[in-house]
Amino acid sequence: MMLERPRRNRKSAAIRGLIRETKVTVDDLVYPLFVQEGKGVKDEIASLPGNFRWSLDTLIKEIGACVDLGLKSFMVFPKVDDALKDGLGSYGTNRDNYYLKVAREIKKAHPHITLISDVALDPYSSDGHDGIVVDGRVDNDASVALLQQMSVLQAEAGFDILGPSDMMDGRIGAIREALDEEGFADTSIMSYTAKYASALYGPFRDALDSAPVDRSDVPKDKKTYQMDPANKTEALREAELDMVEGADFLMVKPALHYLDIIHLLKDNYNLPIAAYHVSGECAMVLAASQKGWLDYNQIMPETLLSIKRAGADVLISYFAKDYAQLRRKG
Ligand code: PBG
Repeated sequence: MMLERPRRNRKSAAIRGLIRETKVTVDDLVYPLFVQEGKGVKDEIASLPGNFRWSLDTLIKEIGACVDLGLKSFMVFPKVDDALKDGLGSYGTNRDNYYLKVAREIKKAHPHITLISDVALDPYSSDGHDGIVVDGRVDNDASVALLQQMSVLQAEAGFDILGPSDMMDGRIGAIREALDEEGFADTSIMSYTAKYASALYGPFRDALDSAPVDRSDVPKDKKTYQMDPANKTEALREAELDMVEGADFLMVKPALHYLDIIHLLKDNYNLPIAAYHVSGECAMVLAASQKGWLDYNQIMPETLLSIKRAGADVLISYFAKDYAQLRRKG
């Protein structure tokens, strides 16, 4: 006789639904979007099919369509014209820049959504780095001073949550202090806590044309500030600092290759854990699906589910809209 038969709890869709431990809801999702100057723009990103660079007008409509599907949180990244880039990423701290205008207009059109920014210099930097390059190195403290300015401008423009993606030391505390001093105590910070120097950011860098430039006086990669993919303990150290410095969310990035890190932070911290399912992770699934090697409507939800099961409370993914659409269809 066999007393234990686990299959009894799998015998119908209804029973499986009853005991399902993890469910991804549309509330869990953040949808990253790209914006550039112009009108009527909907420019597909070749390495991230189904994702586009929008102009303000088309972006506002796209967000409206997503809101109709139940999505409530959006992250926006700017594609900046090369002519506006310089070594200091000055356009990023220019009060009149397009990104800040976009934020104001989005919040005007959709006041109830949660709008999340990107705090880093790379979209504006002619060197393609998240900080300033001084004597061939990315200078931490000089970069943090600029990130503080950028943050205050973003808070003023109406972003609900700021997302420092730069990995400079001490930036969370410095940004928190600058925000509080300027009267933005209610503006949240979602820290890119454990952001790894991953090969999975390729399509994102294509979208923004933001990769480190190939010049002998500029570091060729981001390994002196983004984390070594081999390290786990160091993620705890970064999390500890972010918590003490006042972060409201801790983020792990990328997600799927770093599920152990998501789990580790979830187990050790009481802050909500966000996972950024990055462009290259989505590109792999999209490419295999386009070839007919994987079934997109099955692998896509399984992917998001895995990230949530590992411990993520917030899922940032280019699949957000497709997932909301799939759920809508039932
Ligand atoms: C840079 C930034 C990157 C991403 C978000 N912010 C890329 C990088 O570090 O070069 C990647 C996101 C993605 O790949 O989807 N501040």
